[in-house]
Amino acid sequence: MNNFIDVIKEGLLRDRQQQSRDLIGNPRGGDVLDPEVKVFKETIIAALEGNSNKPSYRGGFYSFYQINQLLRLSEKYPGIVRNKRILDFGCGATRPVAASIILYLLGARSTMAIDLEAPFDPAGIAVAEYGNILSVISGLSPIELHHVNADLSLCRSRAADFDLSALLGGDLRGGLARNVGYKLSRYQDLSEGERKFDLMISNSVFEHVADLEDVLTCARQSIASDGFIFAGVDFRDHRWYTDTAKWSFWQYLIDDGDHQPGYINKIRYSAMNELIQRAGFRILEAHTVRDAMSPDFEAGLLPKYRAMSREDKETTECLYLLKPA
Ligand SMILES: C[S@@+](CC[C@H](N)C(=O)[O-])C[C@H]1O[C@@H](n2cnc3c(N)ncnc32)[C@H](O)[C@@H]1O
Repeated sequence: MNNFIDVIKEGLLRDRQQQSRDLIGNPRGGDVLDPEVKVFKETIIAALEGNSNKPSYRGGFYSFYQINQLLRLSEKYPGIVRNKRILDFGCGATRPVAASIILYLLGARSTMAIDLEAPFDPAGIAVAEYGNILSVISGLSPIELHHVNADLSLCRSRAADFDLSALLGGDLRGGLARNVGYKLSRYQDLSEGERKFDLMISNSVFEHVADLEDVLTCARQSIASDGFIFAGVDFRDHRWYTDTAKWSFWQYLIDDGDHQPGYINKIRYSAMNELIQRAGFRILEAHTVRDAMSPDFEAGLLPKYRAMSREDKETTECLYLLKPA
């Protein structure tokens, strides 16, 4: 529990203990805070704690997790965030600016989130971002600031660049800081200036891009010579997310199916590594998650998948850190 929240909680407790006494400075006597205001404050604290610590659709939870993975790597590769131009490639439609905002609060010079899809419920996202910003600057979020030598005073001064009342009022674009950009575009269609970055982050996007080699070749031309790409790739059949009982991680390897043709590009782990290297990147880190395929399932693989290596069969996730070769 952080200091900020302790102070508020102590204050609430003190208010309760002093309920029958007149407080100095209150011309009407009695409590400074109305009971309704106290309940309101407590509700806000509970909501912030819930928002930062529980998985939720638009709340900060997943982005906090993603950014912490990056921050832990930054211990080995210092200077990856502070004063850098950061691009969130394929930021999505449900929490499109969450990661960008956190990285800006941590001291990024500028951020740009891009995606093909329009935001789903922009007003709801704006209010959720208001909550995310408050949870970071109050120290309630689980963000591990120490990895990047950031502290709450830096986060608070960065938070002042946002129009928080606009966000709370549901105005997503109006509430963003000047150096926190958000654009609906294909990466390759951005202007040359907009494409440039020191750090690209990308979560669960590489497996969805039809022309991934084209995107990575374009990124190779636009990355700073000391830049990085931090990308999480999910090799599972994504139908699994819609019905975990019905579908397996490897479903398409036996039925060649998909949600809709081309929803995922079905590139397996070793082919992904080859493509990344062909586009001119060196793989600095590749943290994989592996899941064992059952012998029954393996026996049913389509002929084109039967000769796959065990590593290609079993790798279901990879967290990459890349740099220009
Ligand atoms: C599974 S979503 C991931 C969203 C987000 N990163 C997240 O973690 O919630 C993949 C996203 O990649 C986007 N995408 C795919 N190809 C793209 C491209 N060439 N340029 C920009 N966005 C792209 C899609 O529109 C989609 O929203």
